Amino acid sequence: MERTLVILKPGVLQRRIAGEVLSRFERKGLKIVALRLRGLDRATVEAHYREHRGKDFYEKLLEYTLSGPVITAILEGENAVSLVRHLVGPTDVRESPPGTIRGDYAARTRLNIVHASDSPASAEREIALFFEPQDIVEWRDDNVSWY
Ligand SMILES: Nc1ncnc2c1ncn2[C@@H]1O[C@H](COP(=O)(O)OP(=O)(O)OP(=O)(O)O)[C@@H](O)[C@H]1O
Ligand SMILES: [Mg+2]
Repeated sequence: MERTLVILKPGVLQRRIAGEVLSRFERKGLKIVALRLRGLDRATVEAHYREHRGKDFYEKLLEYTLSGPVITAILEGENAVSLVRHLVGPTDVRESPPGTIRGDYAARTRLNIVHASDSPASAEREIALFFEPQDIVEWRDDNVSWY
């Protein structure tokens, strides 16, 4: 089964919408197999966003991601990477339709409130960056046929 990494950025806790955002993933049928509330350190965030180093928004992106605690989660399901990207919506908030997380909760692209892995290869790399294997809980999915 495919896994993907999501980060609920500092704005999510500040705005008290962590439950709402997580609930969208659950409602779709994605399975939470790891979940953690924490502050991130700069080295980890730099490694995470290494593809953006040098871009004009890079420093501000780091600053925002490090501005407070975040929730990191691993979600599991068939095609989890693309399902979660669809729920999150396009990067540019002007193009994120209502009904997506960014469409409903983000008004500035730089304050994009949620990160989601963009491919199975990125998901694997990012999961290893944020979680130890023992943080992941495998549990039997009795409801799998409901979704
Ligand atoms: N043109 C931009 N102006 C301001 N911020 C941007 C811009 N492009 C990207 N960002 C910020 O950098 C983050 C990473 O950009 P990326 O291109 O990886 O988009 P994404 O994959 O949709 O987002 P993420 O990696 O956070 O899930 C975005 O979530 C956004 O906060
Ligand atoms: Mg990205």
